[in-house]
Amino acid sequence: MSPSRPVVAIYPGSFDPITKGHEDLVRRTLRVTDRLVIAVSSTSTESKKHLFELEERLELIQKIFNKDKRVEVRRFDGLLVDFARDLGAQVVIRGLRAVSDFDYELQMAQMNQELGPEIETLFLVPDVEYSFLSASLVREVASLGGDVSRFVSAPVLTRLKQKLGQ
Ligand code: PNS
Repeated sequence: MSPSRPVVAIYPGSFDPITKGHEDLVRRTLRVTDRLVIAVSSTSTESKKHLFELEERLELIQKIFNKDKRVEVRRFDGLLVDFARDLGAQVVIRGLRAVSDFDYELQMAQMNQELGPEIETLFLVPDVEYSFLSASLVREVASLGGDVSRFVSAPVLTRLKQKLGQ
């Protein structure tokens, strides 16, 4: 890779909703890349019903990173490698919190390697403070009336409370 070529990374996910663990990974990614596209998956299946609509998920991420010109938020449909190619991204970022993430992440990275050999997956480890945190746990705790203010930023917390009628 030429040293003058900017490194563009994609951080794909459902972000339903974005948590402080995701935010931590975005900041870590920006230490090693020039530009980051947070790619929000639009795919919803019966087994993966979202709490937040795609537009809401995009808007919340935009609110959180709107001051950083290196961060862009986009929706994506279809294959991740096709989206990465269209953007000219060389790197896909995924987080590894614990060994339990590894099987799924390795499988996905290897499939993406088959489909798009020119694109590299980089695994980043979040701060230990967030190693137990997931969007699904945030949804569950919030829906049962628990306090999730430590785990999500203010705009997400406000929207969660509105959505859950709290
Ligand atoms: O936050 P998630 O739900 O773990 O994110 C999963 C996501 C959206 C990154 C993954 O499902 C994905 O990349 N979907 C796009 C479809 C695709 O490219 N599938 C083949 C690669 S395994």
